[in-house]
Amino acid sequence: MAEYDVIIIGSGPGGYVCAIRCAQLGLKTACVEGRETLGGTCLNVGCIPSKALLHASHQLHEAEHNFAKMGLKGKSPSVDWKQMLAYKTEVIEGNTKGIEFLFKKNKIDWLKGWGSIPEAGKVKVGDETHTAKNIIIASGSEASSLPGVEVDEKVVVTSTGALELGKVPKKMVVIGAGVIGLELGSVYSRLGAEVTVIEYLDAITPGMDGEVQKAFQRILKKQGLKFIMGAAVQKTEALKTKAKVSYKLRKDDSEHEIDADVVLVATGRRPYTEGLGLDALGIETSKGGQIKVGKDWQTSVNGIYAIGDCIDGPMLAHKAEDEGMAAAEQVAGKHGHVNYGVIPGVIYTHPEVANVGETEETLKEAGRAYKVGKFMFMGNGRAKANFAADGFVKILADKETDRILGAHIIGPSAGDLIHEICVAMEFGAAAEDLALTCHAHPTYSEAVREAALACGDGPIHS
Ligand code: NAI
Repeated sequence: MAEYDVIIIGSGPGGYVCAIRCAQLGLKTACVEGRETLGGTCLNVGCIPSKALLHASHQLHEAEHNFAKMGLKGKSPSVDWKQMLAYKTEVIEGNTKGIEFLFKKNKIDWLKGWGSIPEAGKVKVGDETHTAKNIIIASGSEASSLPGVEVDEKVVVTSTGALELGKVPKKMVVIGAGVIGLELGSVYSRLGAEVTVIEYLDAITPGMDGEVQKAFQRILKKQGLKFIMGAAVQKTEALKTKAKVSYKLRKDDSEHEIDADVVLVATGRRPYTEGLGLDALGIETSKGGQIKVGKDWQTSVNGIYAIGDCIDGPMLAHKAEDEGMAAAEQVAGKHGHVNYGVIPGVIYTHPEVANVGETEETLKEAGRAYKVGKFMFMGNGRAKANFAADGFVKILADKETDRILGAHIIGPSAGDLIHEICVAMEFGAAAEDLALTCHAHPTYSEAVREAALACGDGPIHS
């Protein structure tokens, strides 16, 4: 049994970043993790492995579709699935070991095992109980279940099983056109699977700017993904090596069936707080299972904090990281802060999709007067040279003050381009500030400047 200033439960991006910041601020810190490796869902079975597969499958797509056009002749590579999975595993190992190194460097104790909180100020891991002045819950989330759909992680899989399939399926059905469904659906589509996405709503990627939703779906269709929209999945039936998916169309209640070699269930995630002992402690949770916290990330019990996917807000690694750093500062007696109005969201398909701040829909709903500056990547020389001219940058600015309110990008490196707009928004910049900033030529970033110019006197290249 050891005594700590702070014990963090969970070593995902929220938990491990929080632990490092706590240690940097001079607190005696431990982090509880029950997996074999640090890094949580994101590093082990989420963001990082899926990006490895997205990268590999994109290279294949480039070889198949664009190499010959550039004078790179010869047979396209074929898929060695075992090797691709080995590459993915190597990427995971490199990252999880990196966190282990950072823990050692910062003198953070890794308490191996699953933690629970028998009472405020105590964390039990295995047979040992440790004391801590402060406890920070960063236990993350898990795939939510769907009535009638039984996941076996072989034929009917969540994102976890989808990263470990025995082979590339011939036919894949994806339930849910959200981030996970579209990222992993496009991986398998590029690797040769026939992918059909079944979505309950009439538009893909709920909450995203409507114009981007339409453009994105059009591009994905062109890439070969099929969509069944306005359809509620009722159940799946797993046969030995196949599955049958039954769904009902919302417009006429008609019932249909589709079969697949693999069904990916990607209908959202819910907070993972099992076994922590929240009820006995009297920690308040919301209907969806999110732990309720105040502005300082403290729960209804003094000295117990919570951050990341297990509290309210978007389930994003970087949101959890920001909360982790801010909560660490609170615990150390400083003033941690997260600007929830400027949290970017990225979908790592090709092209990428990125957004920050308001959408046209939220602005209309709030009755705010705004202007739109839009620039198509077709007018960007670099994008054209790289066969990446699908998509656009769209900046929404206040009609009177020109202050940037939101931005939406679909196109090459959108996930990187969005950040200059995030910085601009943090500084309360006007679109004109971006438009007056010199941007190097030839870069994709010029499209951001052109969109900012489009909020004023107009872009040059359209
Ligand atoms: P999601 O909430 O993004 O999308 C789920 C979709 O499933 C929705 O469009 C919903 O309408 C649909 N759906 C629900 N029930 C259905 C039914 N019975 N039949 C047909 N469609 C149905 O959830 P997703 O993709 O599972 O992602 C979970 C979380 O993980 C999200 O919060 C996401 O932000 C996060 N994530 C973020 C990533 C990123 O930032 N790149 C990558 C992966 C996950």
